[in-house]
Amino acid sequence: MRTLLKNGTVVSESDCVKADVLIEDGIIKEVSSSIDAPDAELNDVGGKLLLPGAIDAHTHMDLDVGFTRACDDFYSGTVAAACGGTTTIIDHMAFAPKGAYPWHQVKEYHSLSDGNAVIDYSFHGVLQEKADQRTFSEIREIAENEGITSFKLYLTYDMMLHDKDVFAVLNEAKRSNILITVHCENDGIINYLRDRCGVENNLTAAFHPKSRPAEAEAEAVNRMLYMAECADEAPLYIVHLSSEAGLKEVLAARKRGQKHFGVETCPQYLVLDDSLYDDPREGLKAIMSPPLRKDSDRTALWDALKNDVLDTVATDHCPFTFENQKQRGKDDFRLCPNGAPGVEERLPLLFSEGYVKGRITLPQCVKYLCVNPAKIFGLYPKKGVIKPGSDADIVIIDPEKKRTIRSASLHGNADYSCYEGMEIKGVIDTVFLRGEVIVKDNDFLGKKGNGRYLKRGISSLCL
Ligand code: URP
Ligand code: ZN
Repeated sequence: MRTLLKNGTVVSESDCVKADVLIEDGIIKEVSSSIDAPDAELNDVGGKLLLPGAIDAHTHMDLDVGFTRACDDFYSGTVAAACGGTTTIIDHMAFAPKGAYPWHQVKEYHSLSDGNAVIDYSFHGVLQEKADQRTFSEIREIAENEGITSFKLYLTYDMMLHDKDVFAVLNEAKRSNILITVHCENDGIINYLRDRCGVENNLTAAFHPKSRPAEAEAEAVNRMLYMAECADEAPLYIVHLSSEAGLKEVLAARKRGQKHFGVETCPQYLVLDDSLYDDPREGLKAIMSPPLRKDSDRTALWDALKNDVLDTVATDHCPFTFENQKQRGKDDFRLCPNGAPGVEERLPLLFSEGYVKGRITLPQCVKYLCVNPAKIFGLYPKKGVIKPGSDADIVIIDPEKKRTIRSASLHGNADYSCYEGMEIKGVIDTVFLRGEVIVKDNDFLGKKGNGRYLKRGISSLCL
């Protein structure tokens, strides 16, 4: 089966080139200025942009938070991802029951995703509570057998690792070429402030960001970077950086010459701010950790993307319904499930708010959404690039078309979008997954279970 995409503009991390693209049996066969393939199905994409299928390295499909679950499972969540131009996700596992070891969640996550996902997928393993010799032997085995070459740990929440174990994990990661991904917030600061909110009866959504200040992020980013440096530069990936204060710590580490780390931010920290918490009811929609920050933080993060200081833009998609699940926090924000939807809005937002508004270039969009996540998470060049031999995961964008974000026309199970009413320039026309059209004009055309599990290689941050 051959498909010829003719007269489009192919975007890579370095340039935008007018080219034809020939797809054969799900793989990109040729990219060149003029291809003649009379037997191929012809698709004239003149005036349109061809981007590699985007990779979202931070989702939480079907996340079990104990009292409820994220409202998107691996089917609805990946349908939404596909409609937003994402053809691969790397999902962050929930914590396992207390006392469990890493294999537990690997098995659990195969049972949640296999046969359900509509795009290609992988997982980050999860480390919780402690790290001992059994933990280390399991992560080596999982990396070898499952191609799960990144593991997440938290510096806050009940199942967090404490510094001695974090340091042990980093040393083991360095030895075994495992990438450690980390949620950076100082647990002591947060718990003290949350308790104080309780005592002082400050329980509306507006107190959520006050109880998780930017300094709590900055301290944890700084600590984690130094610990990685001290572990002979263990490879490290900081998830969802949200603040200018955190960014300063990243810049300081780069200035010191530390190289083996990557930093992710998310559209919510680039596009939204903490004024969303002013309305006690509506504010519940944006209860996520870390919280939304100030306008100055947004500007700093956009500048960091412009100056290539950050590495990826992922979503932290972790949706709960507003009318039902989020209302748990209506009288006490501390009871609200943390997280928000966003997997479908990411690429259109970065394109429109980033490229169209002149904050970043189009090749930078491709770098943050496609190339860097593929390299950092051991998927390159199978994923993340339009070149011969790569999977034919392609997003066709009409750069002139406009659309308003409406929750009603998104595909996930959440009943709201944090970006409701925002006007986007640049609309997704078609999405190909391994040569098959899975989205056309906002209609999902793919099939449940057609997503393939991806065994990943070593991170570029280990090299
Ligand atoms: O609020 C968020 N981000 N929820 C998902 C779980 C986590 O903290 O990453
Ligand atoms: Zn997350």
